[in-house]
Amino acid sequence: MPNPLHSIFGLRNNGLPLVFLAPIAGYSNSPMRRISHRYGAAMSYTEMASVTGLLHPDAKKTWGLLETTKNEGPVVAHLFGTEPDEFAEAAVRIEQTKRFVAIDLNAGCPAKRITDQGAGSELIKTPQRIHDIIAAMKKAVALPITVKTRLGSTPDRIAAFEVLAAAEAAGASALTIHGRFASQGHRGEANIKLIGEVKRRAKIPIIGNGDVHSRYSAWHMFEETEVDAIMIARAAVANPWIFEDLRMMFATQVKPVKHSPTHIRPRREIAVIATALESHLKLEQDHLQLLYAKYGIPETGQVEEALVHVFRYHLFRYLRGLKGSAGVRRQLCDLNTLDAVRETVKGCFEREEAYRAREKPPKAKKKRKKKVAVAAEEIPPRIGQH
Ligand SMILES: Cc1cc2nc3c(=O)[nH]c(=O)nc-3n(C[C@H](O)[C@H](O)[C@H](O)COP(=O)(O)O)c2cc1C
Repeated sequence: MPNPLHSIFGLRNNGLPLVFLAPIAGYSNSPMRRISHRYGAAMSYTEMASVTGLLHPDAKKTWGLLETTKNEGPVVAHLFGTEPDEFAEAAVRIEQTKRFVAIDLNAGCPAKRITDQGAGSELIKTPQRIHDIIAAMKKAVALPITVKTRLGSTPDRIAAFEVLAAAEAAGASALTIHGRFASQGHRGEANIKLIGEVKRRAKIPIIGNGDVHSRYSAWHMFEETEVDAIMIARAAVANPWIFEDLRMMFATQVKPVKHSPTHIRPRREIAVIATALESHLKLEQDHLQLLYAKYGIPETGQVEEALVHVFRYHLFRYLRGLKGSAGVRRQLCDLNTLDAVRETVKGCFEREEAYRAREKPPKAKKKRKKKVAVAAEEIPPRIGQH
């Protein structure tokens, strides 16, 4: 059966299951979207932008969040707010940019600064408002309107079915469900069963989200829920290889083993990490220069500072698991120049190289007696793997 999301978002159909890059405030900007697309993300979302901010006379900073460049693949504009009229007006302006394949309503962010305004996951408490926001945007623009939400506010009350019904009644084209309650933040495991239940009840396509970080978890999400696409957030930060890895798995159709060591980020050559890191840094630099040329942000002289500030959160994740990466993490706040960043990275790579050089080559396998054999999945990850 054809996947309706291809036609809704105008996605290229290569016959493989759809994997999207999630909206990640502070991360999923143009450079991250470009990198993720290069490695196989079928579509990505902007960082969240405030509709009130977009309509403000001095809206440069908020529009900067929605800035796109070429080679990002299809991008969805991800918005938060509370007022249907504001959403409608912002949607018109967003449509005029011709940069986006859809507009997505944030009805899941539990951050206090968002919920205090009545936005994000606070909207879950009033599905009628979700309905009215979607309906207002539907009336104003031709772009598909979607919504991203959670299972409910607190585990004692599942609200996802009401949100789904409101979204469907208002004409939403798809719904993303993160399998946690707002009160959980990112704690506990995503509830795959409930995501599946939402999918079973839905008349519109469903995008499943939560804890996809490996071949096995991606496979499991599709198999258990039959969602139309999956969305990845945390596991894609400084790890664009995940999209490539999943594409290879789906292309070969080899079912991964539960608790397989691929749960852990596979160890990569230092040269591979170094190249990806430098390429990302360059894209961030180009992007900040574009923002400066177009919106005058950040102000002159602050470009390098802003670059280092944006990049250091990616940086320590690229270095995760390498020797000395914990030290880099502790030093992050003191890294204020590009030279300092490069020096720190170099030191970390050198320590890791020395560590790898000292590692003993694996011994030739001996035939083990059946009685003492240990399944590969039970062997704990070796130090140094990440
Ligand atoms: C740093 C961070 C920022 C996030 N920003 C947003 C956001 O702006 N909008 C949103 O809907 N979800 C946001 N999320 C939630 C993710 O999109 C996703 O739903 C959640 O992390 C679960 O997916 P994962 O297990 O793949 O990380 C954010 C998550 C993180 C960790």
